[in-house]
Amino acid sequence: MDRKFRIGIIGCGGMGGGHAIAIQSGTGNAVWKADGVTVPGYDSPMTTNIGEMTELAGIVDIDPAREEWARARGMYVYPDYDALLSDETADAVLIATPNDCHKEEAIRAMRAGKHVLCEKPVMMSSEELLEVMEVSRETGKVFYPRQNREWDEDFLIIRKIYEEKLLGETFEIQCRIMGSRGIPGDWRGIRKHGGGMMLDWGVHVIDRIAAMVPEKIIRVFCSMKNITNTECEDNVTIHLTFESGLTVLLEVDTCHFVNLPLWTLYADHGSAVIENWKLDGKMVRLRSWEDKDTAPILAGAGLTKTMAPRQNNSVEELPLPRFDFDRNTLYRNFINTCLGKEEQIVTQEHALRVMRVMEACFESAEKGTVIPFE
Ligand SMILES: NC(=O)c1ccc[n+]([C@@H]2O[C@H](COP(=O)([O-])OP(=O)(O)OC[C@H]3O[C@@H](n4cnc5c(N)ncnc54)[C@H](O)[C@@H]3O)[C@@H](O)[C@H]2O)c1
Repeated sequence: MDRKFRIGIIGCGGMGGGHAIAIQSGTGNAVWKADGVTVPGYDSPMTTNIGEMTELAGIVDIDPAREEWARARGMYVYPDYDALLSDETADAVLIATPNDCHKEEAIRAMRAGKHVLCEKPVMMSSEELLEVMEVSRETGKVFYPRQNREWDEDFLIIRKIYEEKLLGETFEIQCRIMGSRGIPGDWRGIRKHGGGMMLDWGVHVIDRIAAMVPEKIIRVFCSMKNITNTECEDNVTIHLTFESGLTVLLEVDTCHFVNLPLWTLYADHGSAVIENWKLDGKMVRLRSWEDKDTAPILAGAGLTKTMAPRQNNSVEELPLPRFDFDRNTLYRNFINTCLGKEEQIVTQEHALRVMRVMEACFESAEKGTVIPFE
């Protein structure tokens, strides 16, 4: 291609607006760099400068205020979606509308000859996703799920500890996304628009674990609560059991005023914790099982030796592994997949599996039972 790959965006709200600025500024930093907020790492030499690969064709939104927002930043605003789809200079559409709009928009885009990068949750159900996958096959157009949180450093740290067995064999992982602001008061609180925390943060937490653990998920158990919203779940707790016996606890909460750690990982030779998004945390690695001189400690009204903390010479505290990486991997891979230069990393089949885990979660929460899975 002798020109830059051009992306048009439908839905220019919080996320679409972030994408528009990221593409326009070339940083890929979907956190409003041009509006004064930046995320560390986007200026690293490891990070692809997507400005060299792509440019913004324009945006479409049904809200005049968002159209005005885009115009004020020098972006082209299409009069409607048909105008974007008939723009022959646009190679792809990035879908960032509420969840119930994705299916129709994706199908129309592929049929109009555009590749699609679709915000998560890509669809409302696995049935919808299968239909969209069929159109992708028929038209030969890329349909790419934007499940982007596989490139968050907190996850990459846990992935490294798990994959490289830095603390031995992992037997339990917990990830908790905890907030205290309730469910947002927009379409996220309305079921028919795809509201609820399962389709919001639930996708991310399931996506990451499913991408990391190369094993069958044999059991799913989930409970959901409505504390700040009567229509859609605002608190979700998921238990996954993998084939090897590895257990995973995933929580998404919006009414928690005291936070537990973002990640904890337990392995047979140590434990790791990531406390928060600032990545405070540590690994504690076992040096030796021998810790003979331990005196009992007082636990409530009784004594315990079993639960007494280890003495320092039998364990060592280590900093979390940190590393640099390409923060724009997903944008780069999407564009290069469309250009036939790379294999798609976040595959449609992976998104389908994540969707099916979410469906098993809904079923489990409704029936109050464990759902046998793969
Ligand atoms: N990957 C991530 O980390 C991440 C983060 C936030 C949101 N999202 C996803 O992005 C999507 C949008 O979420 P958001 O937070 O930006 O929501 P939002 O409400 O801030 O923005 C949605 C925008 O779409 C517009 N819109 C609605 N219907 C439309 C239509 N038919 N045609 C054109 N425009 C239309 C609205 O006017 C609004 O500006 C959702 O699917 C959400 O799950 C992903």
